[in-house]
Amino acid sequence: MQHFLSTQDWGTGQLGRLLDLATELKRNPVQDRLRGKSIALMFLNPSLRTRTSFELGMQQLGGIAIVLQPGKDAWGVEFKPGAVMDGDAEEHIAEVAGVLSRYCDLIALRAFPLFQDWQTDREDAVIRSLAQHASVPVINMETIVHPCQELALMQTLREHIGDVAGRKFVLTWTWHPRPLNTAVANSALTIATRFGMDVTLLCPEPAYRLDEQFETAARANAEESGGSFSITHDIEAAYRGADVVYAKSWGALPHYGDPKAEWALRSRYRHFMVDEEKMSMTNNALFSHCLPLRRNVKASDGVMDADYCVALDEAENRLHVQKALMCTLLGADG
Ligand code: CP
Repeated sequence: MQHFLSTQDWGTGQLGRLLDLATELKRNPVQDRLRGKSIALMFLNPSLRTRTSFELGMQQLGGIAIVLQPGKDAWGVEFKPGAVMDGDAEEHIAEVAGVLSRYCDLIALRAFPLFQDWQTDREDAVIRSLAQHASVPVINMETIVHPCQELALMQTLREHIGDVAGRKFVLTWTWHPRPLNTAVANSALTIATRFGMDVTLLCPEPAYRLDEQFETAARANAEESGGSFSITHDIEAAYRGADVVYAKSWGALPHYGDPKAEWALRSRYRHFMVDEEKMSMTNNALFSHCLPLRRNVKASDGVMDADYCVALDEAENRLHVQKALMCTLLGADG
């Protein structure tokens, strides 16, 4: 049994086959591959795309999806091993995972970090505890990484560019009024280096570097795939010659859990917003973002409405790649 917690746990060939299956499912969206199968979708945080694409995808494949929001329409869950459960949570992940494994063929979880202590959050303990107690495959719907988004991003680039190896991919930090999760940024570095792209991380200053585990993984991926990985704080140097600009905002890890101190830093960097002037420095680059996106904050209207913006293609591909993922995990990928 294989889980899908991080793309790093999967081989590049396996990911490639999954994307090929997604292409086939995009051509023929309604199939009976998962008739009688089911997935439990547990959301600890809001969602538009992830929820809709998983629910619809399972239905198009002949199965059923059950959505649960612990603490809202389902009992609150305790994830810590050995916890004395005298707080709000009514049941433990050991039973939640055990029960859902008896009912369903797959369990998916969205559990954002708690934004209090990065040393704790970086361990990704919540989804790991689900995987430990589940007896069916577990899918990560975003924790400190967002592997389903990675698949959709890579599928979109393959559709628009073909072979992405050697193309310049810029992950740019962009402005947002709040310090957000680093998950999509971690994931973008991971998948782009995995497929041999020349990846540049553009962020305003060293405080916005990503966690060492992801930068190290990006370097190792690049070495193996023949790509490259570099970091810059120079906007023009990053945009010059880019083939892909991928934007995301995230909080500075040295100020994790201290939004006031983080604000003092981030408020200087509104000019990192992606706009037409910056895009004009590129090699006619594609632009994308995982969405949701605040217009004229993270990217200008002009960028979002341009032909080179493929954010909607990427959102659509969430549906196709996740269908391929569910088929692969359940042995219906032949
Ligand atoms: N990109 C993404 O995961 O969107 P949602 O938060 O709407 O699911």
